[in-house]
Amino acid sequence: MSHENMEYVHPLPVRIWHWVNAAGFVLLIITGFQIRFAEYLGYMSFEAAVTVHNWVGFIVIADYFLWFFYYFITGKIRIYYPDLNTFIPRVIKQAQFYGYGIFIGDENPHHMTAENKFNAMQQKAYVMLMFILVPLQLITGLFLWDLTRFSSLVDFMGGVKIVDTIHVFLFYFFVTFMIVHAYLATLGHTATAHMIAMFTGWEEHH
Ligand code: HEM
Repeated sequence: MSHENMEYVHPLPVRIWHWVNAAGFVLLIITGFQIRFAEYLGYMSFEAAVTVHNWVGFIVIADYFLWFFYYFITGKIRIYYPDLNTFIPRVIKQAQFYGYGIFIGDENPHHMTAENKFNAMQQKAYVMLMFILVPLQLITGLFLWDLTRFSSLVDFMGGVKIVDTIHVFLFYFFVTFMIVHAYLATLGHTATAHMIAMFTGWEEHH
């Protein structure tokens, strides 16, 4: 394959983290539905759902550390930080593109490079996701896994009802996120371009 008009945007650790995480989330959602709606669903036993959910939960937690350490040790975490001086106009421009421009064939206002990988909307979404929502989901999951061991931290967060509500609320959020995220992932220069790039690392310039 010639790499002349290609840019290497997704280093290997990021790709490993991403697909382990994505597969993990699919399994967590499938087992999560069975656990949450045990009285209506029966595609697996409650015990099996809990066992798989716990194991996959720990794999996803370990995987998060791969993302975290890779990005901080290499300093590449900078790509997640929005440039606050130009942030708001860039978000508006990007939203106009997704809401309108894309349908009349306008060019994407953001041009992806390895150092400037995300558009303003991605930065906003991914910073929230990776610094707040994913950690909160992993921590509340860990606490619910062993309430006795973490009882003082659970009390600190306001008790088991609060911890469980956060976990279930974020669960719904992630179900929605994955649908929107997978749709946006088809909006490259072809429907599969971003998807393939997330496997090979190379994105084509257009
Ligand atoms: C089947 C499910 C999924 C598919 C098909 C998918 C697809 C993709 C694709 C194509 C990209 C590259 C384009 C981009 O940078 O926006 C990407 C990046 C990303 N995805 Fe996903 N994804 C999935 C699940 C998830 C989940 C569950 C999470 C987090 C909870 C997630 C978080 C991210 C993040 C943070 C990036 C940017 C990674 C980086 O370059 O640092 N994805 N995804």
